[in-house]
Amino acid sequence: MTSTTSRARAVLSLGRIYCDMVFRGLEGMPQLGREVFAGEFDLTPGGGALITAAHLAALGRPSALLARFGTDDLSKTLGQTIDQLGLDLQFLDRHETAGPQLTVVMVQNGDRAFLSRRAGHARPASFERALAWSEATHLHIAEFATLHEMNDAISTAKSHGLTVSLDPSWDDELILDPDFFQRTAGADIFLPNMEEAEALTGSSDPLTALQHLAAHFPIVALKLGGDGAMLAANGEVSRLPSQRVEVVDTTGAGDAFNAGFLHAWLDGLAPEQCLAAAISAGTRSVQAPGGTGSLQAVS
Ligand SMILES: Nc1ncnc2c1ncn2[C@@H]1O[C@H](COP(=O)(O)OP(=O)(O)OP(=O)(O)O)[C@@H](O)[C@H]1O
Ligand SMILES: [Mg+2]
Repeated sequence: MTSTTSRARAVLSLGRIYCDMVFRGLEGMPQLGREVFAGEFDLTPGGGALITAAHLAALGRPSALLARFGTDDLSKTLGQTIDQLGLDLQFLDRHETAGPQLTVVMVQNGDRAFLSRRAGHARPASFERALAWSEATHLHIAEFATLHEMNDAISTAKSHGLTVSLDPSWDDELILDPDFFQRTAGADIFLPNMEEAEALTGSSDPLTALQHLAAHFPIVALKLGGDGAMLAANGEVSRLPSQRVEVVDTTGAGDAFNAGFLHAWLDGLAPEQCLAAAISAGTRSVQAPGGTGSLQAVS
């Protein structure tokens, strides 16, 4: 390894950026032919890549967003918030076909319904340039849907000497892709939640699902919401509970968890310390609305 490579610290976060329009305090879910009013509304940046990248930056990790981004009015408005998150935006690929890309989130009694629009394709024109960046040490892929569109993402990152992590993120169709493990081969760290782990392994038992996934990835961190998380690394399994806090909103908690884990792992900490750091980041996230609300609250 050259000295330049060993000094590299930055994480590239690859995935789609969404404008999350969050409606809270609903008296019911929308029905055809009816109108429902919300008590509260927030407009906030979303998408796992952005949330993980923002939490990495907040932890002091050089963090670059690798994504396409629209030039429409909604994207421009969102851009003002993104500019304040401490991210390296040199690889943000601004293009008119990349927006508006949005998710309407309807929250009722702690449950959420989503309505999303994807805009254009996922592959940033800056992809090759980003992976060749001398500062980059790791590629985080925020959803399997993006990897599905960019089959070469893991192999290209590896050819540049980067390590790779993947959060599958729920997708009704793609989570059942029979080629899932073939397409994700080479990822060093896999970061699913229990719903995703069950869909991939057919097991609703966390330990059984974790062990199944550990046959495919060197490190698996399984997110269990209010029950904490489990880790399989170096043939050993560990588990930590979540912290008891007042939960405001769990949106993006898994993406914050990813940031905590990656930052510790890239610093060379032991697996269980990485899991503890991940839980701390997830805990911080659930105490404020939206995926980046906890960061804006402290800055
Ligand atoms: N109700 C909760 N109470 C305390 N901590 C929580 C709670 N929900 C989530 N967390 C913290 O956040 C971490 C990750 O959350 P979760 O398991 O919900 O991920 P996820 O399902 O991938 O989330 P998302 O996909 O919405 O980002 C948990 O391991 C835990 O540390
Ligand atoms: Mg998740």
